[in-house]
Amino acid sequence: MKRIKRIGILTAGGDCPGLNAVIRGVGKAVLGLYGIEAVGIRDGFLGLIENRMFPLDKTSLAGILTVGGTILGTSRVKPHRMESNGRVRDLRGVILKNCQKNGLDAVVCIGGDGTQKNALRLVEKGVPIITLPKTIDNDVAMTDTSVGFDTALGIATEAIDRLHSTAHSHHRIIVAEVMGHRAGWLALGAGIAGGADVILIPEIPYDVKKIARAIRSRSERGSNFSIVAIAEGALSREYAARFRAVKSRKARARSKSALAQVGAELAELDQQHKGNTLRLAHQLEKLTGLECRVTILGYVQRGGAPSAVDRLLATRLATVCAELIQKRVFGVMVAARGESTSPVPLDQVANKRKEVPLNHPWIAAARAVDTSLGD
Ligand code: F6P
Repeated sequence: MKRIKRIGILTAGGDCPGLNAVIRGVGKAVLGLYGIEAVGIRDGFLGLIENRMFPLDKTSLAGILTVGGTILGTSRVKPHRMESNGRVRDLRGVILKNCQKNGLDAVVCIGGDGTQKNALRLVEKGVPIITLPKTIDNDVAMTDTSVGFDTALGIATEAIDRLHSTAHSHHRIIVAEVMGHRAGWLALGAGIAGGADVILIPEIPYDVKKIARAIRSRSERGSNFSIVAIAEGALSREYAARFRAVKSRKARARSKSALAQVGAELAELDQQHKGNTLRLAHQLEKLTGLECRVTILGYVQRGGAPSAVDRLLATRLATVCAELIQKRVFGVMVAARGESTSPVPLDQVANKRKEVPLNHPWIAAARAVDTSLGD
């Protein structure tokens, strides 16, 4: 069997705390344990297309464990659909050639669900890839957790803690928007940990009247302030029904023009949904008579140093990844399974999303402490 001599490492999709800890873990372990050279690929798959790489030696890997972001840079490009001058081109062949030109025997892709899909598309073209899961949304399928989630959970929880005292002083409702377009792990986890009175997640469409009732009944019991933790992708029942209708038309669309038409409708609906948190705050103010303020936590959740839990997760996934590379195990994602890890074939990960199951213990726990989930 041909010995692995050189690998490339890239980070793709949205950044998060812990990416550098993964890069360091993979780089140090391949070099130290197996004498494999590592190079950093700049800006995700874009760097593979444009052939932008640099050596990752002991010096460049030192001092980055605790640093937020990614020393490699990142991007959200899709190699099979690259747009330039109004044309869409499949550049996966260019990537394969650049890997060969640079003597890369393997490429490590650190990313979320989009990255897992791109990686699978490249594996199908013959690029030897192994992936690692990262996302503050915690929605990568087939892994217990992903790098970045624990840190973001801590940041969002602290924010909700801080909002409590000011909401209490002013007898206000404060609606805190937490990241998470399609999955509510972060809002649910931070909402429970921060003691939010209402938690709204994409998996449970909400009824604004029921939220207002929960807030009013708190006021009647003497607590005339409330914290609402809302995932950015949470939907009212009305919006959820509209999204469902368009999506079911999409599933039935057969012709290219019908697909384009439904695609445009979905984009329009997405556009209208923006500002949902502000709309909700306005409705709650009207329905409860309490003053309502909004805090959008946004990119604060993706910045800064990783938590100890994320550093540990990053290092153990990364070092197992190095071992798998040495054994030439490709086309898999290194998933976290309890205290252990498991290589999962990419076709079982890509095109799936890990949403919060409605029977998840966190949901039961939230309801048990009288938190309204808006349903
Ligand atoms: O990393 C996932 C995520 O944080 C989502 O929760 C969020 O909607 C999205 O990234 C936004 O990322 P960007 O604006 O960088 O594309």
